[in-house]
Formats: sequence, structure tokens, C-alpha cells
Amino acid sequence: MNGAATKTKKRKIMLAPSLLSADFMALAREIAETEEAGADMLHVDIMDGHFVPNMTIGPFIVEAIRKTTSLPLDVHLMIERPERYIDDFIRAGADFVSVHQEAVIHLNRTLNHIKERGAGAGVAINPATPVSSLASAVYDLDFVLIMSVNPGFGGQAFIPHCLGKIKEMKKMISLKNPDALIEVDGGVKPDNFKTVAECGADILVMGSAFYQSGDYKALVENFRRKR
Ligand code: DX5
Ligand code: ZN
Repeated sequence: MNGAATKTKKRKIMLAPSLLSADFMALAREIAETEEAGADMLHVDIMDGHFVPNMTIGPFIVEAIRKTTSLPLDVHLMIERPERYIDDFIRAGADFVSVHQEAVIHLNRTLNHIKERGAGAGVAINPATPVSSLASAVYDLDFVLIMSVNPGFGGQAFIPHCLGKIKEMKKMISLKNPDALIEVDGGVKPDNFKTVAECGADILVMGSAFYQSGDYKALVENFRRKR
């Protein structure tokens, strides 16, 4: 066996800056700079003031975002009964759509619906929701979004026990749906992204740490170097 063949291939870890912490008065510029810096996708947080105590944007703004960038749009629905709006967000340009396990009764139906409409289907779980709650849905999803803060706001601290949940999820996925990816959202920063990735995360969402860094390009380079 030659050297190249014995080398273990590095998993691609993706960085998804969350627009929640971007300057909304300069959104087009922020998105262009995020893309130029080399981010892998844009994370778009949708909040309804019911499922979470905060409100953000709807499909209309997602459609406007879609027109300004070629980056994949990762739309995180923190809304009650998200099945009502899935078609609208996919029509607006979402490439990936995640719904919360806590907000959907018929997860199998909802995930299949997202996939039939041509988007990647994800399930998000809150910090207090166990990984075991996805024991059946794991067969139907393209990715799991593990929340490492309570959803609703940017800039919160990473909840440490969520590292264990990432590892547990990784085990479940390797047994039941090895192609599924793990995304981690909340409190991810340059000083913990290596650890989060080592636990099994494939996509790291970064809101405040990215948009407050002052140098998006340097942050992406640091991310690619460190992991
Ligand atoms: C929180 C959102 C996150 C948020 C993360 O409810 O789902 O995507 O933007 O922000 P940071 O990285 O600042 O914790
Ligand atoms: Zn999010």
C-alpha cells in the first residue's frame, strides 16, 4: 500500500455564518463579504415569537437574500407548526430546511415533504431534548441540527453537555444513516470549534463570533487551519 492510500481522509467541516448577527442595514454587503471570505453556506434563522421569544424574517427576505448570493441557504425554522411555511421558504430559495423536533407532530411526513420539494431535510433539537428522541426520525433526515444554546438569540454561551450529545448523535447516525450530517448551532467560537468538530459536527454555525470578528477572511482561514 502506498503512503497516500494509508492516509486517513479528513472529513470536510463546513462553516455556516448565521446572518442573525450581521448588520441588517447593510445585509447585501455583509452577505457579499461572507461569500468572499469563503464561508460554505449561509445560516438563516427564522423566529416567530411563539416557539422562541424573538422574531426575525419571513420568506420575502429569504427571497431577497437568494438573489444576492450563490451560497447555499440553510434555513433554520424556529417556528410553531413549521409545515405551514415549508413550501414558501423552499420557493424563496432555501436549499436546506430544518424544523424543530419539539414543534412537529408528524416528523416523518414533514421530512419527506421537504425532500420531495427538493431541499435537504433537517431536524433541530433543543438542549433539553434527548438524542434518543430522533431514534426513528434519523432514518428520514439529511441532517440533524444540535442546538448548543436555547434558541432565540445570538451571543449566548455554549452549553457544555451538548458536546456529549454530538458524540451520541454521531454514533446513532453511523449505525442508522451514515450519510446524514450533524450541524451544531449556538455559542460556537474560534476557541471551541475544533472541539465541536472533533465530537462529530460536520457543519458549524457561527453568528456573533463571525460577525463581530472584524475580519471574516481571517476567521475562515483560522477555521480551515485549526480543524
Ligand atoms: C439561535 C440561532 C443561532 C444563532 C447563533 O437561536 O439559532 O443560529 O444565530 O448565534 P451565536 O453563534 O452567536 O450563538
Ligand atoms: Zn440557527
